[in-house]
Amino acid sequence: MRHNAIGIDFGTSNSSVALALPGGEVRMAVFPFAGTMTDSYRSLLYLEQEKVHGRNVVKSWSGPAGIERYLDADDKGRLIQSLKSFLTSRTLKGTEIFGRMHTLEELVSRILRDLKGHAEAQFGVSIGEAVVGRPVEFVGAEKEADNRHAEGRLREAFRVAGFDKVSFQLEPVGAAYHYESTLERDELLLIGDFGGGTSDFTLIRVGPGVRKRGRKKQDLLGHAGLGLAGDTFDAKIIHHLVSPALGAGTQLRSVDKLLPVPVWIYAKLERWHHLSFLKTKDTMEMIRVVQAQALEPEKIAALLHLIREDLGYRLHQSVQAVKRDLSSHTEAMFRFSDGDVSLDATVKRSDFELWIGEELERIRGCVDGLLGAHKVEPGQVDRVFLTGGTSFVPAVRRIFEERFGAAKIQTGDEFTSVARGLALQGVFG
Ligand SMILES: Nc1ncnc2c1ncn2[C@@H]1O[C@H](COP(=O)(O)OP(=O)(O)OP(=O)(O)O)[C@@H](O)[C@H]1O
Ligand SMILES: [Mg+2]
Repeated sequence: MRHNAIGIDFGTSNSSVALALPGGEVRMAVFPFAGTMTDSYRSLLYLEQEKVHGRNVVKSWSGPAGIERYLDADDKGRLIQSLKSFLTSRTLKGTEIFGRMHTLEELVSRILRDLKGHAEAQFGVSIGEAVVGRPVEFVGAEKEADNRHAEGRLREAFRVAGFDKVSFQLEPVGAAYHYESTLERDELLLIGDFGGGTSDFTLIRVGPGVRKRGRKKQDLLGHAGLGLAGDTFDAKIIHHLVSPALGAGTQLRSVDKLLPVPVWIYAKLERWHHLSFLKTKDTMEMIRVVQAQALEPEKIAALLHLIREDLGYRLHQSVQAVKRDLSSHTEAMFRFSDGDVSLDATVKRSDFELWIGEELERIRGCVDGLLGAHKVEPGQVDRVFLTGGTSFVPAVRRIFEERFGAAKIQTGDEFTSVARGLALQGVFG
């Protein structure tokens, strides 16, 4: 007899948990956020230090509760996001928070434990086993050993979070198994799953016939992946739009020479959660010296304000908002204001597409490489299923429309397809 199964997609930006029933029905775990319920759980962690009976105690919140707590706090603690993107790093074992080292595995496990708790309470079952997704190529992976290293760390995080048994599956294969549940006949599918950290592809034969006869190894023709997606697009918007308004590319006068304002400051800005790394006494002092010599000091003053007031998260929200608007409009307003700092700009979709041109080219190359490696012509692919939040970007979709024709493209369940399919694999194999 078949049993229920749990699928977990621990995403770079959003995570989700699905329960599949023996008959194939799938239910998503939902989480409270801002007065409503959501089935995607932000993969972030927020930590605060409190004094309890004279001793320092560190408390943590994950997901939507973490965002709410962070936004409410006057004295901000540490907000940590995109942890999945660091799993390949051999040098980054963890991070120091309030004077104590926390391993990456431990931090990830805190998010997973909360996810597990929410799902258990909602589904009324104890969850010890799960089918868990992993990208084809983790962010930063240069060789297969890096992927194994990252998967091992993820496995350890699940163990620490209280899971007895996890089996890994490639995220795009999860998305394929979800799409399969909508099919009436077998098809050769190309999946493109575009998330926050990675873009993942698989060429796979799925359908009711395949499921009935039992899957064969050769049904999975091949897969490919890139360690770039929505986070990289955000970094490009910051680079081209935000950093110049905060002094990037401007000059300062040192004695009798004109010098550029140091660029490394702005590299930190591009990964918004690194902004807090600039908030040290020495760095702030150095930026104040830059401000005193700057030809456009008001821009450096705005930068100092952002660092001092911990506005990285809010700035990133503005960047994501303009990116989302550009998915449905050919022009959008970027808006950010706090105190004396006010950044407004109109952005054209065509400009955004130029900024991410190199990334689009790499995506195109990766898809062509996958087809070429398996000697599959675009005409042989029956359907292209695009999923993940970054698949909303029109320029990303266009790559597939040009290769395969618009009629073959299907989209949907952007934030839940992977977890749904993973859960289905747990039931049907
Ligand atoms: N309408 C939209 N237009 C453009 N980008 C969007 C839109 N909605 C969400 N995104 C982007 O999608 C990304 C998140 O997608 P998703 O939740 O699928 O990723 P993830 O599963 O967490 O990451 P990964 O699969 O890489 O681990 C973010 O970069 C977000 O900014
Ligand atoms: Mg994903």
